[in-house]
Amino acid sequence: MTDMAQKILVTGGAGYIGSHTLLQLLLGGYAAVGVDNLDNSSQVAIQRVQELAGEYGQNLSFHKMDLRDKPALEKLFASMKFDAVIHFAGLKAVGESVAKPLNYYDNNLSGTITLLEVMAAHGCKRFVFSSSATVYGWPKEVPCTEEFPLSAASPYGRTKLFIEEICRDIYHSDSEWKIILLRYFNPVGAHPSGYIGEDPRGVPNNLMPFVQQVAVGRRPALTVFGNDYSTKDGTGVRDYIHVLDLADGHIAALRKLSDPSIGCEVYNLGTGKGTSVLEIVASFEKASKQKIPLVMAGRRPGDTETVYASTDKAERELKWKIQISKQEVVRLSRASSSGKTSKGRFLESHGNGRVNG
Ligand code: UD1
Repeated sequence: MTDMAQKILVTGGAGYIGSHTLLQLLLGGYAAVGVDNLDNSSQVAIQRVQELAGEYGQNLSFHKMDLRDKPALEKLFASMKFDAVIHFAGLKAVGESVAKPLNYYDNNLSGTITLLEVMAAHGCKRFVFSSSATVYGWPKEVPCTEEFPLSAASPYGRTKLFIEEICRDIYHSDSEWKIILLRYFNPVGAHPSGYIGEDPRGVPNNLMPFVQQVAVGRRPALTVFGNDYSTKDGTGVRDYIHVLDLADGHIAALRKLSDPSIGCEVYNLGTGKGTSVLEIVASFEKASKQKIPLVMAGRRPGDTETVYASTDKAERELKWKIQISKQEVVRLSRASSSGKTSKGRFLESHGNGRVNG
């Protein structure tokens, strides 16, 4: 590894957002260590990040590890010094969290508490956490600013909310901590090579992977959850942000951690624009010149009507701004599911095996 490079620990590094962030870190000149329990991801993603990073790939190492395994984490922190930790690892399926709440509290909360304990014991107190716009619940108005009241409608959402509160508490107890909580809106797309991406296990929960699977013939039609919302066309409105823009938001957050004024801060990472389900489908059809069959259905329990970000604070304080337009987001999402990529299609190259969670 390069001597001068900052060394960043990335938990959940083999996952969807984690792998894209690892790549951007390497290309940005950081050295990175990925850890992941590979529960919903594969180490293949790490190899692919290394390949995509070219000569920088040598600055990445990986350890299969569950964050609840405190001795393993202790050993890792004793073996090297980290400048900061970016924490993605966790379970993320809303429906599953309702059915198996203890799994979610154990994985997400116990894992994070163990990580924070080991970090503190080794004097590593710079932390970036992947939170979610889910903490805004059903917002009274949009765009959502960071000051909005917080709530959660599922055990998954509560784990995000609780971890945010834990971070605020540890900062209040010890002002040496520098913490940035990033509230992601709806991450979509993949690296343009199609070499890393999102390939959820089983039936996808999220809109874009579902649309992609319909496009490649894995599923017959997209079920639209509700067309009676008070939105432009009756379908739910969200803020879809390209995963590479999101990954870059983490680099901006790392830079911000060096600002002496930072304590425990929260930033939205979104585009600031709302897009409906039917608009996403129309853009995808236009880009792929392919029809996506639709089945209209009732609202999905726990869904909200319209959620999009205010991006002012992140743009002002992190000096970060999205680079990829809405059209480009859809085009790139299509490219990553179509096979027309330089390195081969992510979904196809692994059959129906999943590579990233
Ligand atoms: C969901 C989670 C949220 C999590 C986020 C991660 C729920 C209730 N919320 O957000 O906590 O942080 O994923 O990305 O699950 N849709 C369809 N058909 C589908 C799938 C989705 O019509 O097959 C619609 C949904 O009703 C919604 C929009 O597409 O209007 C986006 O849904 P989704 O991608 O699941 O994201 P969120 O619900 O916003």
